[in-house]
Amino acid sequence: MLSPKRYAHSIGVMNLSKELAQRHGCSVEKAEVAGLLHDCAKELDETETRQILDSLGSQVDALTRSMRSLWHAPAGAVLCKEKFGIDDDEIYEAVFYHTIGKPEMNRLSEIIYIADLTEEGRDAYLPWAPAMRELAKKDLQGALVGVIDRTMYSLIEQHKCIHPLTVEVRNRALQKR
Ligand SMILES: [Fe+2]
Ligand SMILES: [Fe+2]
Repeated sequence: MLSPKRYAHSIGVMNLSKELAQRHGCSVEKAEVAGLLHDCAKELDETETRQILDSLGSQVDALTRSMRSLWHAPAGAVLCKEKFGIDDDEIYEAVFYHTIGKPEMNRLSEIIYIADLTEEGRDAYLPWAPAMRELAKKDLQGALVGVIDRTMYSLIEQHKCIHPLTVEVRNRALQKR
């Protein structure tokens, strides 16, 4: 289902998620599964992805529907459950929200969110990835704020929308530190 490049990224997210789970008292097996599968819907065609989104109804908000780059996250969560038979609420949530985040997201979701942006394959084009990866090993909330800040700078420079849930995740992580 994935190009070699995306597959390599998925393996990178799996490995970093595993390490972060070990350090932060989270299920290592769930971290590996969610990391490996988080982008499983990324290369589905648009029609198929749209059908999956439609099946989710109001669980997918209007802003997410308007941004094609976000669709693979909720669609991937559905594939995990229906195609791969993974019946686990935490993995479902981690895949579902890996692009925008979710206030009060569980530890696994925080790990996948951070690992997606800081696995070693990102180093080539995200200069801040190594520092955030190291920070995440010690301070998960600090790294969460750090990766969201940097993603927001980039979205602003590109004049793209920032999802309000991501703003809320950032604010809550800042207050938790
Ligand atoms: Fe993704
Ligand atoms: Fe990813």
